[in-house]
Amino acid sequence: MCGIVGVVGAAAEDNIVEKIIDGLEKLEYRGYDSSGIAVVRDGGIECLRAVGKLQNLKMKLENVRMRGSVGIGHTRWATHGKPAENNAHPIVSGGVAIVHNGIIENYLQLKAELQKQGFVFKTETDTETVAHLLQRETAAGLSPREAFRNVLGMTEGSYAIAAIFSSLPNTLFVVGNRSPLAVGTGENMCAGSDVNALSSLCDEVVYPRDGEWAEITANDVLFFDKDFNEIRPKKHRVCESCIGGGKGEYAHHMLKEIMEQPNAVRRTLLYNKTEPDFKDVSEILILACGTSNYAGMVAKYWFEKFLRIPTNVEIASEYRYRSPVISDGTLAIAVTQSGETVDTLEALEYVHKYGNAKTAALANVRNSAVSRVSDFVFYTEAGIEVGVASTKTFTAQLAILAGIAFCRFPDLIGELQKLPELCEKTLELNDEIRDLAGKISSTNSAVYLGRGPLYPIALEGALKLKEVSYIHAEGFAAGEMKHGPIALIDDNIPVICLCPYDELFEKTSSNVRMALARGKNIIVFTDAKGAKLLPTETTKIILPEVRSEFAPILYVIPLQLLAYHTAVLRGADVDKPRNLAKSVTVE
Ligand code: M6R
Repeated sequence: MCGIVGVVGAAAEDNIVEKIIDGLEKLEYRGYDSSGIAVVRDGGIECLRAVGKLQNLKMKLENVRMRGSVGIGHTRWATHGKPAENNAHPIVSGGVAIVHNGIIENYLQLKAELQKQGFVFKTETDTETVAHLLQRETAAGLSPREAFRNVLGMTEGSYAIAAIFSSLPNTLFVVGNRSPLAVGTGENMCAGSDVNALSSLCDEVVYPRDGEWAEITANDVLFFDKDFNEIRPKKHRVCESCIGGGKGEYAHHMLKEIMEQPNAVRRTLLYNKTEPDFKDVSEILILACGTSNYAGMVAKYWFEKFLRIPTNVEIASEYRYRSPVISDGTLAIAVTQSGETVDTLEALEYVHKYGNAKTAALANVRNSAVSRVSDFVFYTEAGIEVGVASTKTFTAQLAILAGIAFCRFPDLIGELQKLPELCEKTLELNDEIRDLAGKISSTNSAVYLGRGPLYPIALEGALKLKEVSYIHAEGFAAGEMKHGPIALIDDNIPVICLCPYDELFEKTSSNVRMALARGKNIIVFTDAKGAKLLPTETTKIILPEVRSEFAPILYVIPLQLLAYHTAVLRGADVDKPRNLAKSVTVE
């Protein structure tokens, strides 16, 4: 969470303010509680901050002539200290300004020490300790480089930090430690939380490893390891698939990304042909959070049915704190779009520490932290996902997991290739679903039902509705209804059922009838065969016919569209839902 960016101008008179704002626009998915920018100008630091979305900062900038040849910017998702201007970054102490993503775990101890030395704290953030430490060290006569290096030795936790010093009008210092950081070189020297933020500024990037730091000037970048040794890390070309486009013809990124799913699935299937090695694997353990966890739950159905390997899916944030037993022969798979969800990374670390297990990961963001803690990474080829709600990356995750599950069944693998076309046909339901959204947009609550591998899809449908429209929604295994949740049903609550004509149709359709006996707003996603057999009083949305194995990938699409259109009707900020951030790097 939080996005940081820093730019050094190509020439002394170059103004970097617009470049920083451009970077922040691309990083806003990481948090939007407040934002800010600071530059070095005429031997001093100028800083401007605003609460709320970046737009508020841009409006403030219209009234000041901010200029500078080196600067830093931040977009915040609050952890320490509420979203308020005084807690916004950059945080300035004397001639130093910093931006930070992550958590300084020993900040209370550092704060007490600094307060004793006379430093006055103006924010509730952990970050302010680092700004004061840098100021203290430079005031004691150290050069900015020495000060930066010393302070890194004092801080514990996860952090990506960018710092500027009033005494150095063309130098930027950055460090990454368990928080993402890319350092860009080319036309501009720069750094940021992801490569997309730097894509219009540079041609090559370096991803520093934990604890590595860089001193960036207009013409050069020096990289150092923790021990101050100069290093020469590998450079990567800024590639197309690392760069997110705009919204194109769409009103929101979320809708664009939903529509991109046929291609996301197509590319993912094309580029993931590696047959996993299941030799000696006696158990599969999937670790993930949120939507990625639901992808894991679908995979459990597939893996057990087709690979016949016992599979457990664990919520990563729970897993590591309950002293789980890891059997020999376990293959642990972390599923994470961002590759930086701290709960998932820590759960995988737990497996490394306490188990004798092979590890793999499924990620969308290349070179993200998960690639450093797993033996093998499968990449979804969904392209950058900007909308906070995961959509195309979920179907791409499912495509990889399906490819793994069906690897011993050439006919299924063959048929999987037809899936992108079926996704395209399903997307043709968009107008119908926009109308349907009108039927649920004024509800306070909704219920989603599914069976078998469509049960996790019911959970995902409910999550999508909650997060973008703020309607309370819950997903249930259809067969569980009668054990309690059926009490929720009345004439007002929409009950959204996933009921294709599959081997469980008899059972699920009888759950649909049970719901209909108690409520009036029963919406069923089904296929042509199912529609003929379902009660006429239900609202039916008819999807293309699909093999039941592939149904999860198809049936989630109309649920994403339903959540999207409902949120739009309710006037919600679909791409930046309240209180959320795209990558969750705090526990
Ligand atoms: O990046 P990850 O896949 O690890 O993120 C996990 C969850 O935070 C994420 O799936 C979240 O639930 C979705 N953005 C919801 O749409």
